[in-house]
Amino acid sequence: DGFTASRLFSQGFSYTYDDVIFLPHYIDFPADAVDLSTRLSRNHPLSIPCVASPMDTVSETSMAVAMASLGGAAIIHCNTIPARQAAIVRSAKSRCIPFASDPSFFAPSDFVSSAADFGSASFAIVTESGSSKSKPVGLISRSDWEALADEDYPVSKYMRQTPASIPSNYDFEQVAAFLAGEGLKMASLVGVDGEIIDLVSAEDVVRIRSFPKLGVPSLSPDGKFLVGAAIGTREEDKERLTHLVKAGVDVVVVDSSQGNSKYQMDMIKHAKNTYPSLDIIGGNVVTMAQAQNLIKVGVDGIRVGMGSGSICTTQEVCAVGRGQATAVYKVSSFANDYDVPVIADGGISYSGHIVKALVLGASTVMMGSFLAGSHEAPGIYEYQDGRLVKKYRGMGSLEAMTKGSDARYLGDTLKLKVAQGVVATVADKGSILKFIPYTMQAVKQGLQDLGASSLPIAHDLLRTDVLQLEVRTGAAQVEGGVHGLSSYEKKAF
Ligand code: XMP
Repeated sequence: DGFTASRLFSQGFSYTYDDVIFLPHYIDFPADAVDLSTRLSRNHPLSIPCVASPMDTVSETSMAVAMASLGGAAIIHCNTIPARQAAIVRSAKSRCIPFASDPSFFAPSDFVSSAADFGSASFAIVTESGSSKSKPVGLISRSDWEALADEDYPVSKYMRQTPASIPSNYDFEQVAAFLAGEGLKMASLVGVDGEIIDLVSAEDVVRIRSFPKLGVPSLSPDGKFLVGAAIGTREEDKERLTHLVKAGVDVVVVDSSQGNSKYQMDMIKHAKNTYPSLDIIGGNVVTMAQAQNLIKVGVDGIRVGMGSGSICTTQEVCAVGRGQATAVYKVSSFANDYDVPVIADGGISYSGHIVKALVLGASTVMMGSFLAGSHEAPGIYEYQDGRLVKKYRGMGSLEAMTKGSDARYLGDTLKLKVAQGVVATVADKGSILKFIPYTMQAVKQGLQDLGASSLPIAHDLLRTDVLQLEVRTGAAQVEGGVHGLSSYEKKAF
């Protein structure tokens, strides 16, 4: 008694996720029986449909290893020089545990000038020359430095003992057993060539153990964590691509806000010709015609969304884009016929949005703001009005563009930069290792209500008109949220 998707989305309206609601179907299986396994791109399976955005306040090493451990993936942003982006990919691929602290390195004679020198880590490593490749001589802690911050001491003055080392190919259980067996509080992870990769502490082990059990991790055929990275569409991005391939990247996203361009087609053709076994994801697109052009040049995945992101101003500035529910439905119903997985990119604030994106045809959702307040996002927490927050910024914001991301929004080297995004903050959400499993449980419950025990089944139920939906009026949207209370505590888990 509702509308079929084909009928609802062909009436000339641009619908967002919040505009539409599914009608429930029939349940004959428990929520735990819902299988969320999916594909990031043609050749890369995932066990959960979650992808972290290629944004410089979202996806670097920590996000990549945590996402891969959970069974999702992260796309390393390209708002940095190619060598640094490739180093992040290499760093993520060199780990086998679900977390990374990304410690800084100092020589004994160095001085720490500000807390930012520690990055987001609590400890830094002291080596003979200050490089990760030279001999370790000790450790410094952020709290020791803070206690001495009024004095100007070189790090050798407050350095602690060198920790024991563990091979970096140890998995989480091996690391835990080693620390417990030796009664150690901390150890360094060391690669085959003797390079120090990270520090792990007994505290980290206890923290991870308190989180829900991890799913099946995303591994690439080389047995390492699956890691993606973004490139732009300029000539110099061909060199970036070479750096990334040498670093072991598994999948590359060609990052443009309007992907139906000659520049993107040329880049996809170049990448497919040069590295035929590398999966290339194109985008962003919101129409079938745009998707058709990407499919013609052989993309292995399509990223959908224009102006739906929380920090986006593209629709206001350029008057171009599409409501995300309509965009995901339209592009997916076309791309799925060619077996090309769709990534629904942007506009995810709740688990319900994820359910809608997936049922409307997407294989995964790509998230920025949903992940930017996590421990794994780059940057440090700050206090804002008594609340812990992290910075989150659009890659089309003026601030990000001054670091190079203007390629995504301009396509050439225009002199006058016009922002298509904002700089913001998001609240602390803790670790994704905790909140993503809860979110996935909520998604399973949504799919259960729709009688879909897997994503292919959900897509099939929608395509065959078994699943129906309706547009929510403004009042229905108010009714669908918490309302009419003088106060309430919003806690999801
Ligand atoms: P969410 O809603 O998850 O959106 O925060 C993340 C997605 O937004 C896109 N993005 C931008 N779009 N201006 C835009 O119009 C920007 O500055 C900008 N930065 C990111 C991108 O697709 C990302 O995955």
